Amino acid sequence: MLITFEGIDGAGKSTQIQKLVHALAVMGIEAITLREPGGTTVAEKIRHILLESSHEITPIGELLLFSASRAELIQQVVMPALANGKTVILDRFFDSTTAYQGYGRGLDLEMLRSIIAISTCGINPDITFYLDLEPEEALKRKFSKRSIPLAFEGEELDRMERSGLEFYHNVRRGYLDIARINNGRFVLLNALDPVAVIHDSIIAHLKKMFVA
Ligand code: TYD
Repeated sequence: MLITFEGIDGAGKSTQIQKLVHALAVMGIEAITLREPGGTTVAEKIRHILLESSHEITPIGELLLFSASRAELIQQVVMPALANGKTVILDRFFDSTTAYQGYGRGLDLEMLRSIIAISTCGINPDITFYLDLEPEEALKRKFSKRSIPLAFEGEELDRMERSGLEFYHNVRRGYLDIARINNGRFVLLNALDPVAVIHDSIIAHLKKMFVA
């Protein structure tokens, strides 16, 4: 089973993934957790280029780098794990590309679909949990102990996070569109709900899937 988590930076995916891994372990289900971009030696190097460097990267270059990282992870780690009957939890998958490179950077969605099909080898998640959050709220969370900047700008942010508030509003709009189009697979969760409420909802959805 392939479970993916999506949401803008700061929506609380990591916390929910940790809680889910623990809950699955209690049920006797061992899950492998991976994050995109990253997860293999080459994919981690690509992650560094995409997030840590201050180089200018064109939208197409960015798309292809995220896709190259994905191809490595999928073929080297995810496909073998799924073939061995393992449950895989992915912190971001191709919906991030649609939301960030499509709606955020403005790349053509039809072109993205072709590249996604190539980089994923056609693999689709069984279920996707999307944690919905206003970009302003995400900023507050990120800077909770410091003064809050007025936009996604500044040295302590990674290259993607420096893309600005309007970019994040477009990304969120993208996620909400994806949720409307894929309402069978995409579970929309309110990231402002208490952590335990979100977790219970995730478990309820998974139980429903196992029974079906
Ligand atoms: P990461 O530090 O993993 O962010 P988070 O903790 O929010 O998941 O950084 C991943 C960044 O890369 C994040 O800003 C989203 C972006 N991204 C894309 O733009 N396109 C993609 O296809 C993927 C997988 C991530």
